[in-house]
Amino acid sequence: MKVPFVDLSVQHCELEPELKAAFARVLERGSFILGPEVERFETAFAEYLDVAQAIALHSGTAALQLALQALGVGPGDEVITVANTFIATAEAISAVGARPVFVDIDPVSYTMDVARVESAITPKCRAIVPVHLYGQCADLDPLLEIARAHGLAVVEDACQAHGAEYKGQKAGTVGDIGCFSFYPSKNLGACGEGGAVVTRNAELARRIRLLRNHGSVSKYEHAFPGYNFRMEGIQGAILSVKLPHLDLWNQERRALAEEYGRRLRGSNVVPPVEMPYGRHVYHLYVVQVDDRDRVRGELARHGIETGLHYPLPLHLQEAYRSLGYRSGDLPVCERVAQRLLSLPMYPGLGAEAVEYVAAAILEVTECLTPATARTI
Ligand SMILES: Cc1ncc(COP(=O)(O)O)c(C=O)c1O
Repeated sequence: MKVPFVDLSVQHCELEPELKAAFARVLERGSFILGPEVERFETAFAEYLDVAQAIALHSGTAALQLALQALGVGPGDEVITVANTFIATAEAISAVGARPVFVDIDPVSYTMDVARVESAITPKCRAIVPVHLYGQCADLDPLLEIARAHGLAVVEDACQAHGAEYKGQKAGTVGDIGCFSFYPSKNLGACGEGGAVVTRNAELARRIRLLRNHGSVSKYEHAFPGYNFRMEGIQGAILSVKLPHLDLWNQERRALAEEYGRRLRGSNVVPPVEMPYGRHVYHLYVVQVDDRDRVRGELARHGIETGLHYPLPLHLQEAYRSLGYRSGDLPVCERVAQRLLSLPMYPGLGAEAVEYVAAAILEVTECLTPATARTI
């Protein structure tokens, strides 16, 4: 049996007539950049999240950058985040001229270890960017408490967490600003690039709307230099078709995760843990396993594609060498980076494929010693 890591054709087949109609509408109207389809999606997404404003952008990276810039974060400032994320989280901090400060992670949720944040705050710190990794929120309440006490903004990187919840509230709507990516393989994905910022703060929303479109207040009148970070009309139309299906898709991901968990129980593999404060939407299903690279190779021989999220933490990347971090600075993050393995996870994967993947893992890991992850 062949099991791809992600297969978008399942959802695209299901929605084909609606997606084609959406394409046709945009072609007919010629509204290729921003326009009514993008506005419609912004309204629907804000309603879905129960937040005042959603601003559609070109990507999640653009969302993070504009969120920080609108907050006034700039050269000489520091922003606290984590190193076990896609590089875009840190790039957005660098792009506004600030310095990423990496803190270690919680070994169970793999999200920011809030207990380590306070000691990382210096007088230069302006903001904290928790990442809701793999579809699960960071522990936001204690983080917000620290942020408020120090006058720092909280920008949620919810690029992997569409529809996830923290204590009943949607990911992205708890802090000052939430940032989303609609990269095609996300829980809510465009057919191309896409992103959004959400906020309850009208002034931040106004600034972000201007920044995404060259600071333009009216045609050829610019309040300040901005960017071309606009969403395309086609992506707005496609996202409006897909958004009503997001909750069902997330439910399906949760059911698949439960099935994986049931089949892997008692094995050497450490499954993901849903934290009591939230609702996980399993953008990725990531386990810990000993001898990861060998297991990955064996699974490939069984026709099973897997992923690594992420094999080399950002503080050890060449791109961030100038920050001066060394191996050993973030021990939990570094240790799990060598053990994490992302299994196939997408709506339409099916219980049979989960059974096949789980059986292969059990076979391949049988000879390994029990997982030691929890003893970090
Ligand atoms: C955690 C995280 N942050 C930021 C991004 C950047 O989003 P985009 O690829 O839309 O720029 C991604 C997407 O891959 C992500 O997973």
